[in-house]
Amino acid sequence: MTTLCEHAYAKINLTLDVLGMREDGYHELKSVMQSISLCDEIEIDLGTNRPWKLSCTRQDIPVDETNLAWRAAKTFFDAFGTDPQGLEIRIVKRIPSEAGLGGGSADAGAVLRALNRHYGVPFSENALLQLAAKVGSDVPFCTLCGTAMAQGRGEMLRKLPPMPDCRIVICKPDFSASTPALYRALDSSVILRRPDNDKIEEALIAGDISAVSREICNVFDALLCKQYPQIDEIKKICISCGALASQLTGSGSAVISVVRTQEDADTIRNALENRNFAVFIAKPV
Ligand code: C5P
Repeated sequence: MTTLCEHAYAKINLTLDVLGMREDGYHELKSVMQSISLCDEIEIDLGTNRPWKLSCTRQDIPVDETNLAWRAAKTFFDAFGTDPQGLEIRIVKRIPSEAGLGGGSADAGAVLRALNRHYGVPFSENALLQLAAKVGSDVPFCTLCGTAMAQGRGEMLRKLPPMPDCRIVICKPDFSASTPALYRALDSSVILRRPDNDKIEEALIAGDISAVSREICNVFDALLCKQYPQIDEIKKICISCGALASQLTGSGSAVISVVRTQEDADTIRNALENRNFAVFIAKPV
């Protein structure tokens, strides 16, 4: 039996624009995505000679074939055309769920990376990303990681220069919002500001964290702020404590704030924890 280990990095959306509804029912997106050091840990046993099994340290996560990590393994072996002779996936969960941080997609991406590496890279980067797209819209980015412009459903990726060194403070309020419902509720009347993806790309090329922060923008932000006043409260706390930017990630409900130093991040963490919010501090990876 062989055991593979892989970090499964969360993603944040530095920008997120929704350009319209597609014929397949999904929405056309344009988003600058960034992976961060907040991660789950994945272990995969190959050759267990037992039926497939998945376990997770958190009780609310499904442990059957609906789990994206399981689906990623199934998609990999179907395309590879071999049978691992039994497989077990163990997930140490740290990424909060229903946060817009791609928790399930991160696990799926880590499974695809680990399996492709173990079997001697049978799939090129592009081919692996195509497999990832079958598993979920955010899985291609969570397989690639780094900094990238995502288009289409999220599966068309173009690598960008890395986000300049900074800290990301993540605050997860205790409610969750339904992603499909939010996509349905989003129309131009609730979009207050759209991202300028050319400008953020220029700022990334220049390596200018202030300029990157100025362009952080998510079309879901105003909609969530209207429905959940807590989002606005969190953003105000972060900005008043010196955050360069504070914005919803994905379709929420986590809010991400950018600061320059660990000290700045600790100041925001203290202010948020005083109001009983769950807080995580991470770096771009
Ligand atoms: O692909 P995934 O299962 O992660 O998407 C979850 C839900 O988010 C979809 O069922 C859809 O309602 C919405 N979605 C969308 N357009 C996208 C990505 C997600 O409408 N590009």
